[in-house]
Amino acid sequence: MTTEKGLALVDLDDDGVDRAFRSDVIDGLSQAQKAVPARWLYDDAGSQLFEDITRLEEYYPTRAETEILTRRGAEFAAAIGPGRAVVEFGSGSSVKTPLLLSQIDPAAYVPLDISGDFLRAAAADLSAKFPGLPVHPVEADFMRRVELPDDVAGMPKLGFFPGSTIGNMVPRTAVELLRTMRETLGADSCLLIGMDLIKNRQVLKAAYDDASGVTAEFNRNLARRINRELGGTIPVDSLAHEARWNDEFARIEMHLVAQRDMEFAVAGHEFALAKGESIHTENSHKFSRRSGNMLLLAGGWTPTHRWLDSEERFSLILAEATIPRSAP
Ligand code: AVI
Repeated sequence: MTTEKGLALVDLDDDGVDRAFRSDVIDGLSQAQKAVPARWLYDDAGSQLFEDITRLEEYYPTRAETEILTRRGAEFAAAIGPGRAVVEFGSGSSVKTPLLLSQIDPAAYVPLDISGDFLRAAAADLSAKFPGLPVHPVEADFMRRVELPDDVAGMPKLGFFPGSTIGNMVPRTAVELLRTMRETLGADSCLLIGMDLIKNRQVLKAAYDDASGVTAEFNRNLARRINRELGGTIPVDSLAHEARWNDEFARIEMHLVAQRDMEFAVAGHEFALAKGESIHTENSHKFSRRSGNMLLLAGGWTPTHRWLDSEERFSLILAEATIPRSAP
């Protein structure tokens, strides 16, 4: 059965359970290193907790990216030029979008999001802020190629993917997404993408393990969601939040670490964690100039401009769709 939750299409079984969620959790908990894909962190409670994270003193990425968008507007305008249809991938509540739109004189705005609720609210908000700007919301999973509305067919496109969300994907998935974006946007498009930078690991760890425990709650909410939606018996209070720096892969990993030996069930399947073992719940990759450029090139985009915040913590990169070449 396919039904609507908000306006997002979700594939539910006869008991009202999201099939994709269940199979991701059962598969992930069956691995030697237990892991659940990070996308499941974002139910309503998780999305609210993430909003709270973006306002934390320790969580610098949102402030740093906002600073770049606010201060470098004239440079964006010169590099991007007027008359583009701005296509935002995973627009969510679109908080950073007005900062961009107000600088670059766009021809249209196309927010893409899997959640119809967010999409409707964002579209209404943007229309009110920019009267006269055509806004064409599209409810879609941007991990797949999206058919853009006919109204923007003839316009050059600018993809907008802020927040360093690309860092939440392993490189293989990130490259696939970048290629899919290129297909969605077309040959003469460009992409403005946020990439968080490698930095002092204390600063990184604090950003993902804040003193007030909001990120810990965000992480533990995933186990609560599993219990609630999949009839789980995970002893959530015996799981500790941990943010680990994995230097080999230049990423912060979030884990839920068992504080004692435990056995639990999820959707009729039995699992066990020994004290000290963990469920890996998120990767947040950090980039150098070169690793960011390499990822973009692998995804079919040539970086042309790069802007940093004043403390050099975060980067916004402008890239253009690479012309395919057969020569090296
Ligand atoms: C959404 N994403 C870019 C956030 C990040 O920084 O990786 C998610 C997050 N996880 C813990 N804190 C924030």
